[in-house]
Amino acid sequence: MAIYEEAGASVTEAQIAVHWREEDYLYPSPRFIGQANAPDPAVRERFSEEHFPECFREYADLLDWDTYWHTTLDTSNPPFWDWFVGGRLNACYNCVDRHLATRANQAAFIWVPEPEADPAQSITYRELYRRVNELAALLRDFAGVQAGDRVTLHLPMVPELPIAMLACARLGAVHSEVFAGFSGTACGGRMADSGSRVLVTMDGYYRDGKALDHKAKADEAVAVAKDQGTEVEKVLVFRRHAGQYMSKAPMAEGRDYFVDDVIAGYRGKLVEPVSMPAEAPLFLMYTSGTTGKPKGAQHSTGGYLAYVAGTSKFYLDIHPEDTYWCFADIGWITGHSYIVYGPLALGTTSVMYEGAPAYPDPGRPWRIAERLGVNIFHTAPTTIRMLRKAGPDEPAKYGYHFKLMVTVGEPIEPEVWRWYHGTVGKREAVVVDTWWMTETGGFMGATLPALEPMKPGSCGPGVLGIYPAIYDEEGKPVEAGSGRAGNICIRNPWPGQLQTIWGQPERFVQTYYAKYCHDTQSKDWHDWPFLCGDGAMQAIDGYYRILGRIDDVINVAGHRLGTKELESAVLTVPEVAEAAAVPVVDETRGRVVEMYVSLKPGYSPSQEIEDKAKAAIEREIGKVARPRNVWVVPDMPKTRSGKIMRRVIAGISNFTDVGDITTLANPEVVEAIRRQVYAEKSARGEAPRPLTEQELEEIKAFGRTE
Ligand code: PRX
Repeated sequence: MAIYEEAGASVTEAQIAVHWREEDYLYPSPRFIGQANAPDPAVRERFSEEHFPECFREYADLLDWDTYWHTTLDTSNPPFWDWFVGGRLNACYNCVDRHLATRANQAAFIWVPEPEADPAQSITYRELYRRVNELAALLRDFAGVQAGDRVTLHLPMVPELPIAMLACARLGAVHSEVFAGFSGTACGGRMADSGSRVLVTMDGYYRDGKALDHKAKADEAVAVAKDQGTEVEKVLVFRRHAGQYMSKAPMAEGRDYFVDDVIAGYRGKLVEPVSMPAEAPLFLMYTSGTTGKPKGAQHSTGGYLAYVAGTSKFYLDIHPEDTYWCFADIGWITGHSYIVYGPLALGTTSVMYEGAPAYPDPGRPWRIAERLGVNIFHTAPTTIRMLRKAGPDEPAKYGYHFKLMVTVGEPIEPEVWRWYHGTVGKREAVVVDTWWMTETGGFMGATLPALEPMKPGSCGPGVLGIYPAIYDEEGKPVEAGSGRAGNICIRNPWPGQLQTIWGQPERFVQTYYAKYCHDTQSKDWHDWPFLCGDGAMQAIDGYYRILGRIDDVINVAGHRLGTKELESAVLTVPEVAEAAAVPVVDETRGRVVEMYVSLKPGYSPSQEIEDKAKAAIEREIGKVARPRNVWVVPDMPKTRSGKIMRRVIAGISNFTDVGDITTLANPEVVEAIRRQVYAEKSARGEAPRPLTEQELEEIKAFGRTE
């Protein structure tokens, strides 16, 4: 049985031999501990299993409720759990209005445009309140948006994005933001799936020094939605520069409107926040499996907001007076939870940056941090690797000081972790490796920064109130310290988790619960472990090491190797900047590994580097993992969000179709890599052979990229 309904390939054995070396602990400074939100070990006790589910009151009590709830957790309709039942609240009120009394003049957001000559814009809580109200009035009175309606946003990293999210939340409408880097087609498909009649978009934005035409995608989106049966009535277009249109796409009469024109009629308008039931959906976030249609993860109002507020407080250590910068895109769950809702619920200042990390040079992020006085920094390993590659010595040139730094989204190789901690964090900052996913709404595994030491490459134990377990294929627990990996699950419900897949409740049950449910008739949550979709192992100290998606595991001669494990080994080679492992179908060994690597500046490809990479794998993991080939390439194919597209290089390595590359940040690199690899393979006598359907499926499905 397939673990992931859309994974295509089933994972039939659970014993994954893992060859990580144990890393040493690092400890937070007394200075950090002295100011931390969670310095007292008693917090662990308060969230222990015997206090579940009531422990989550502590998170819910961070919010203002219009009506307090009567039941913390209702399990009567498993696995559709309801949190804080009977409670009513408004998410926008909690993120904006309630801060006006104490911090109206404090910046809620500081927005940094990509062109460096343009000044950063500070949006105070008072200003945010005004702009959110005006847009809410426009959405309600001009676009006819009501509580429960879905509104699709296709906005880049501009203040209008959180403003639109909060305006929807104020009305009780369900926002569905589609990452701006996605195509119009992708946006249209999501509009149709969610039945959105209104699209909020922008004419253009800046990325990597280029002015991008974004409005053109809206026309495509509307056409695609129509094809799929959804008529989009209004397209509301923000202009990146008010009054000047930066797109070449025409405005459709009677459908497309410039927000900066229409909003003139709503100046100073106030909209009463709509009091919503705790379990009303707040937003949809579409997330792809490896094949099939993206699914709309539906997140709740009360449970979600409570969960992101609580985890932001304890794990990001956010205080209202901090300046917090999460360098992610709000188009992903990280941005929703930890740029917008969590930080704003706590009344802090959240920094947003429009552009690319190394534009115009790799010192940019550190200049932003220095100028704005950022003291909490949050980003993904991909960005860290990229900045390390482009400018390893840059951070030292700037006088910022971080008290805490976060890594999220992928396993981080210990080598990269050490650069992040030592060079970016100047050994002063606590590093919190947060493991979670779109579906979980907030963190699942991480260290409590003042209480639990850091261990490079491990996210840490389950977070407060989260009780993970690793199971093998038969559902037997894989013990901590066994050196074996399996499928990591969360045994209990929690307030931040997705409520369902929009419109597909069966798929929700099938995807996350079918594999390990003990008894489908049971109303006891203990019978319903949630399948996260990652392979993981637990060390004897209780820390988890995430190996990557279940579908990212390479099975070499019956020996499963985590791609991250291979890559981490190769990253110990000093010349190597980035590494990606892919499976290649092999007659005798099932799969063998091919490695793709890119080099740090100043190095050129050589046989010696290839040999070093192979030797590093042999040394760190063993001969079994020795890659067949190491391809030193000029750059990795990457998504706009910066993740390496492993399925593209897996396709090249297997002489198969690389699939859709239109969402790549650098599609041109694909052809260059293909030519290089095909030429070298042919010189080495490696001929293509036709793959079976199942093999093709596996290669196509390899690497989860969104
Ligand atoms: O494989 C895990 C990886 O990212 C996946 C979730 O991706 P997405 O839904 O896009 O959400 C990303 C932001 C939370 C997970 O299944 N992942 C996420 N965080 C980590 C991680 N892998 C290792 N370590 C992490 N800290």
